[in-house]
Amino acid sequence: MVLDKFYLRKKYRECRRQQSTDQKYHAENQIIRFFLSYIDYKNKNIALYFAKKEELNVSLLVKHLWKENINVFLPVMNSEEMTLHFAAYRENTVIKKNVYGIDEPECVNILSPKELDIVLLPMLAFNRQGQRLGMGKGYYDRTFAFRQHNRIKPLLIGIAYANQESQDLTGDAWDIPVDIIITENEYYRV
Ligand SMILES: Nc1ncnc2c1ncn2[C@@H]1O[C@H](COP(=O)(O)OP(=O)(O)OP(=O)(O)O)[C@@H](O)[C@H]1O
Ligand SMILES: [Mg+2]
Repeated sequence: MVLDKFYLRKKYRECRRQQSTDQKYHAENQIIRFFLSYIDYKNKNIALYFAKKEELNVSLLVKHLWKENINVFLPVMNSEEMTLHFAAYRENTVIKKNVYGIDEPECVNILSPKELDIVLLPMLAFNRQGQRLGMGKGYYDRTFAFRQHNRIKPLLIGIAYANQESQDLTGDAWDIPVDIIITENEYYRV
């Protein structure tokens, strides 16, 4: 199983790398449109992520949400526990690089994962059961492990290109599936 994931990560990283700048831009716009049209996001606490190089960037969504006075959060890594907390992201928030070189907001106004309503998370591969392949550290799985047996909030929305859908992906016991998948082609409720 670990070997399968290793192979799949290689394959889908390559597949993501092959997207042109235009394709990426198109996909990001479509994904944001699907989000704004189908998700009941008013008055909700919403966590997004800052995309790493080839990941789909959803930060353009932030401006829409700010305009509507919605509380936006970004993940902050707790590298000892290997989990995520979520810090408020406002226009004046100071952003710093963490030990992995990923941008993070300064740790003020922290929410625990259970206090969030909606979380957008990047996927390297996915299937129609909502099983997700991430970058392989298990941060999201550990953070949302409390959702393993009961589908309580937050709503987990996985973001990927349509061609990152994989027939070969099977979940491990610790993997936490997403509830909704958004690609450039569709909004899909698992
Ligand atoms: N709830 C958990 N408790 C303890 N270890 C966990 C838990 N969830 C995941 N892990 C560990 O994390 C490692 C990586 O998990 P996995 O391969 O599913 O990563 P991923 O889902 O691709 O990564 P990420 O969630 O960071 O995007 C696994 O080897 C597993 O041992
Ligand atoms: Mg996993």
